[in-house]
Amino acid sequence: MSSQVPVKLLAISGSARDGSHNQQLLALAARKAEALGAQVTHVNLRSLDLPVFDADHHAAQGHPPGALKLRELFAAHDGLLLSSPEYNALPTPMFVNAFDWLSVMPAADGLPGGTGATAGKPAGLMAASPGALGGLRALPIVRTFLSTNFAMVVVPEQLGLPAADKAFDAEGALLKPELDAVLGKLVVSVMRQAAWLRDARAAG
Ligand SMILES: Cc1cc2nc3c(=O)[nH]c(=O)nc-3n(C[C@H](O)[C@H](O)[C@H](O)COP(=O)(O)O)c2cc1C
Repeated sequence: MSSQVPVKLLAISGSARDGSHNQQLLALAARKAEALGAQVTHVNLRSLDLPVFDADHHAAQGHPPGALKLRELFAAHDGLLLSSPEYNALPTPMFVNAFDWLSVMPAADGLPGGTGATAGKPAGLMAASPGALGGLRALPIVRTFLSTNFAMVVVPEQLGLPAADKAFDAEGALLKPELDAVLGKLVVSVMRQAAWLRDARAAG
């Protein structure tokens, strides 16, 4: 990678379900990134305990601690690995809700605003489903969401993992080498972009 300083990546799953196939795919991507020298922080969206976004709630009660935490995490990391199931051809409410909260976070306490913390940082997109399309239908929506409003650099490589309930061996590796190769390329792409963009930001 372009710098000796390890890249720091967030790993976020759009499903916090016990036994989630997306968490399994994300964990594999994270292991690949770590093997290449990245530092990966796993974020469990359920543990952030974010209420469903409601502007009246926001006006009355301000930012929930989970939104503050999300802004802090993005400010401290160089890129994102995201795996989300599709629910009825859309990304999950849990994922969209978390990013809606992030989007309304202002700059404060020496930290950028929510979208300032994501801007110019790469994201690698994955989806997993027991179905035949692997959650692929939601990925263009996630790509638009993250690149348009959050100014993230969504790398072209992506993986929709079909038949996810039968896709992994006992060690959590992908049984199909061609899919494992796609995942490997996605991870390398995110890491290259993360290092390059981070170094470019630091150089001003
Ligand atoms: C409300 C709902 C809608 C779903 N819609 C889709 C869908 O559009 N396409 C699909 O492939 N799977 C769909 N599924 C099935 C999910 O892909 C499946 O539950 C998957 O295991 C969820 O990901 P996870 O294992 O990471 O929790 C849906 C599941 C739920 C609960």
